[in-house]
Amino acid sequence: MKISLIVAIADNNAIGLNNDLLWRLPNDMKYFREITSGHHIITGRKNYISIPQKFRPLPNRTNLVLTRQTDFNDEGSFTFYNLESAIDFAKSNNETELFIIGGGQIYKEALEKNLIDKMYVTHVHHHFEADTFFPEIDKNLWEKISVNAHEKDEKHPYAYSFVVYEKMN
Ligand SMILES: NC(=O)c1ccc[n+]([C@@H]2O[C@H](COP(=O)([O-])OP(=O)(O)OC[C@H]3O[C@@H](n4cnc5c(N)ncnc54)[C@H](OP(=O)(O)O)[C@@H]3O)[C@@H](O)[C@H]2O)c1
Repeated sequence: MKISLIVAIADNNAIGLNNDLLWRLPNDMKYFREITSGHHIITGRKNYISIPQKFRPLPNRTNLVLTRQTDFNDEGSFTFYNLESAIDFAKSNNETELFIIGGGQIYKEALEKNLIDKMYVTHVHHHFEADTFFPEIDKNLWEKISVNAHEKDEKHPYAYSFVVYEKMN
């Protein structure tokens, strides 16, 4: 099973503020939906709760929520108390590509433990004030395998690029 992460990162590595996203980019939301649909996704409890109740669990995906609260339960999602047991659950369900969808704590743990094979990164070409950041991407460890750049337009206030990285051997 491949383990991927998907994230949108500002030029200053910002990814969130006050448990919310920093931008609304409809093409990025569509990309996220297309890439993750049909797969298991792992989310931290804070990121999960930031999704409006009527939109969660995210449809067409098996939602695995990480928390340390033993009484946490959100109907339709699966609760796990550590990252490894959520990964094992996806593996035992014959998942081929598992997605880590954030937030900051979960990305950091998965990268530090060297668990990630592939990263789908939307680079948002702007600086934002934030309280949650993505770790610096080490150019010696990660190879860009595709880049798809978009200018800003009436629906997208910032230019952005869909970049896929694979871990170098
Ligand atoms: N730009 C993007 O692509 C993107 C994507 C996702 C999220 N975000 C943003 O990121 C922010 C949220 O990130 P965050 O770092 O604050 O929180 P988070 O990573 O979403 O969730 C943290 C919570 O996950 C649980 N947790 C963390 N590590 C765990 C472990 N090893 N075992 C079990 N449970 C664990 C804990 O839940 P309990 O407190 O319940 O114990 C912890 O408080 C928001 O602003 C969100 O909008 C941005």
